[in-house]
Amino acid sequence: MIFTTAGEKGGSGRSTIAEHFTVWLSKQDFDVLLIDADEQGTASDFTAWREQTLDGNVGYTLVQLVGANLRKQVETMKSKYDHIVIDTGGRDTTSQRAALFVADVAIVPVQPRSHDIWTLAKFTEILDEIQSGRATPLTAYTFLNRADITSLDNRESAEALAGLEQMTFVDCAIKNRKAYPNAGASGLTVFEMGEKSDAKAINEITELFKRISHVNIPITA
Ligand SMILES: Nc1ncnc2c1ncn2[C@@H]1O[C@H](COP(=O)(O)OP(=O)(O)OP(=O)(O)O)[C@@H](O)[C@H]1O
Ligand SMILES: [Mg+2]
Repeated sequence: MIFTTAGEKGGSGRSTIAEHFTVWLSKQDFDVLLIDADEQGTASDFTAWREQTLDGNVGYTLVQLVGANLRKQVETMKSKYDHIVIDTGGRDTTSQRAALFVADVAIVPVQPRSHDIWTLAKFTEILDEIQSGRATPLTAYTFLNRADITSLDNRESAEALAGLEQMTFVDCAIKNRKAYPNAGASGLTVFEMGEKSDAKAINEITELFKRISHVNIPITA
C-alpha cells in the first residue's frame, strides 16, 4: 500500500505521523520505504538522527523525492516494498498533489485550532480535484493531532472533521504530549523509549494506525 500524509496547514503533525507510521509498519516486519517529499527535509533529518541513535539500523529505507516526477518514481519503486509512506510539506505543492495521485491512502492530521479547521475547506477542494483525476478513489482519513488532553475541549473540532464528505474522520485523537517531540529529538518514536515510555501515547497512536493502515497485524511490544 502507498500512504501519504497531506494537508495544507504547517505543523499539523504530518512528519511525526509519517515517521511513527513507518516505524510501526517496519516493526511488523514489513519492508517499508519512507519518501521525504518535503523540501524542508524533516523526515530525512529524523532518519539521520535515527541512524546515529541506532547505529545505522533505522529499520526502513529513506529516499528524498520532490516534484511532479515523484509519481512516476513511486510507480517504479512500489513493487520493491511492502509499503510506502510519503511525507509531504504543508502547502499545496506539486509534490503533495503527485503524492495524492499515486497513494492509496491519505493521512491528514489536523490540530483542533480554529485556523486549522478553516483552511480545511481549501484542502477538501484539492481532494475533490484529485479524486476526479484518479482512476480509483483515494481513501482519505482525518483525525485530530495535538489534541487537548480533556476530550471535551476537542469536541467542536471533531464535529467539524466528522462533517466533511471528502475524508473519513477517525475518532482517535492523538493528544498533545511531550512524548512525541522527546522521542523525535533522537530519531526515535514513542514505541522505542524503553523506561521513558508513555503508555498513553503508545496506545493512542497504535489504535489510530490499526484503524487507518488496512494492515491486520497487531504491533508486537
Ligand atoms: N501529538 C503531538 N504532541 C506534541 N507535539 C507534537 C505532536 N505532534 C507533533 N508534535 C510536534 O509539533 C511540531 C510539528 O510537527 P511535525 O513536524 O510533525 O508537523 P508537520 O505537519 O510535518 O510540519 P511541517 O509543516 O513543518 O511539515 C514538531 O515539533 C512535533 O514534534
Ligand atoms: Mg513535516
